[in-house]
Amino acid sequence: MSGPISLRDFEESAATVLPAGVNDWVAGGAEDEQTVAGNRAAFSRRVIRGRVLADVSARNQTVTLLGTRLAHPIVIAPTALHQIAHPDGELATARGAAASGALYAVSTAASARLEDVAAAAPGAPRWFQLYHAGTQARSESLLRRAVAAGYSAIVLTVDVPILGRRERDLRNRFVLPEGVRMANVDEGGVAADERDSARSWANPIADTALRWDDLGWIRAAAGGLPLLVKGVVRADDAERAVAAGCAGIWVSNHGGRQQDGAIASLDALPEIADVVGDRAAIVVDGGVRRGTDVLKAIALGANAVALGRPIFWGLAVGGALGVQQVIETLRRELDAAMALAGCSRIVDIDRSLVR
Ligand code: FNR
Repeated sequence: MSGPISLRDFEESAATVLPAGVNDWVAGGAEDEQTVAGNRAAFSRRVIRGRVLADVSARNQTVTLLGTRLAHPIVIAPTALHQIAHPDGELATARGAAASGALYAVSTAASARLEDVAAAAPGAPRWFQLYHAGTQARSESLLRRAVAAGYSAIVLTVDVPILGRRERDLRNRFVLPEGVRMANVDEGGVAADERDSARSWANPIADTALRWDDLGWIRAAAGGLPLLVKGVVRADDAERAVAAGCAGIWVSNHGGRQQDGAIASLDALPEIADVVGDRAAIVVDGGVRRGTDVLKAIALGANAVALGRPIFWGLAVGGALGVQQVIETLRRELDAAMALAGCSRIVDIDRSLVR
């Protein structure tokens, strides 16, 4: 049999490798998983109106994102606990990201220390994703460490005041496999009677009290690094974030894992791009699985797209090499999508290409 050709092939192979409960944890979303499906459906509803006779003999995917020059606009979204999919966990992700030129946003909930992830791929582009939970001192310490380890931007995830109700995990009584834990945060806040429940693994990441005023101390603790807010799906919130000094808006519904029934991220994107203009960078994630999806997202105003679940599929199938192959597969598809739409450069992908 041939190796994986599309991201769907990686998904299918991963499902044969991962224990069923882990596969459900990766694949699942909140409640009826309407938003998981909705993220994909939003891409299917959009069609491409390509240009012809545009001389696409020299194609190039380079972009500049918050001052960093990147070979392509495909980013690795922050996701928790990569050791659940491969023993080398985030270190493998970092190596696969570097080999494929992808910027990697490392999660607070990583199963490796953020310093070790940085050291696994020195010089590669990387951002640190902050979950503020617990005390301000805890988050300030995480931010100081990220600055010291050379992360070039901070992504504050704001769509987890509580954990979404992921019914697959509740049904499976999902608990972290032996030996896999969040390496950057102290789990001491977890109540003993909660420790083994299907939701307790997320206690160190959810915070009901976070509010706009907190962006001030978070920006200060980020030591001058640009701040992005992740989980925005409304133009008014995007405007507020820009007014508060954020350098980037990450349009996301957390892959449908938080609010079920939430707007698809691709549907939220155009109004946010309109209000933000070129005042901030825009990243979008949720259901990006094809090069044509990347093209559609960029046409509707994104500067970059990010992948969540496909990184777990790559890790499960082949560790660092699997991650690299997932990114390269999508890059090949993007190259074809650009050629067929009459685009030689990312800046040629404008809104008129999509209806
Ligand atoms: C996530 N996501 C996430 N987001 C975040 O800011 N910090 C995190 O630690 C995690 N953890 C996490 C674990 C798993 C298993 C998944 C699937 C997702 C959300 C992630 O960054 C991203 O928004 C979505 O995964 C994008 O959707 P797709 O590409 O998975 O459809």
